[in-house]
Amino acid sequence: MGDPRLWQQARLVERFDRPDLHALIADMEETMHHLDGAGLAAPQIGVGLRVVIFGVECNPRYPDAELVPRTVLINPVLTPLSAAIEEGWEGCLSVPGLRGWVPRWRNLRYTGFDAVGRPIDRTVAGFHARVVQHECDHLDGILYPMRIRDFSRFGFVDELFPNGGAGAVE
Ligand code: NI
Repeated sequence: MGDPRLWQQARLVERFDRPDLHALIADMEETMHHLDGAGLAAPQIGVGLRVVIFGVECNPRYPDAELVPRTVLINPVLTPLSAAIEEGWEGCLSVPGLRGWVPRWRNLRYTGFDAVGRPIDRTVAGFHARVVQHECDHLDGILYPMRIRDFSRFGFVDELFPNGGAGAVE
């Protein structure tokens, strides 16, 4: 947080199934798994393209989290499906050591493309919807602290959760 590349609007990917795009995604996947994150956006590794990856499959950091399929999502478009808002804890690999209580749309449709240009169209809710909104915010230069309404619920992981168990998006 503070690197100006994290505040910028990322650019649309114009060509799919190219070596440089596959290399970017491989780099992102390695970074995400190395840091045990639930997701990552290209601007977090300094690349200003509209590419996010996410997925939660038996991650010991999120023992209670519902599973989210491993996904590469390019040029995403998000559409909330109701006015319902849900608040939950989030963290971010670009804001290490902290957690915040963040409002998100509860019901969400998202569309986009995978790495070879096949369309993706999903309707999701809850934690899955939260992960997608968090990652796609990175493409518009938004970090989760910018969405916090109650700053009494923003702080260091060790202070907020002295006994562990902080399920959170990264
Ligand atoms: Ni993040």
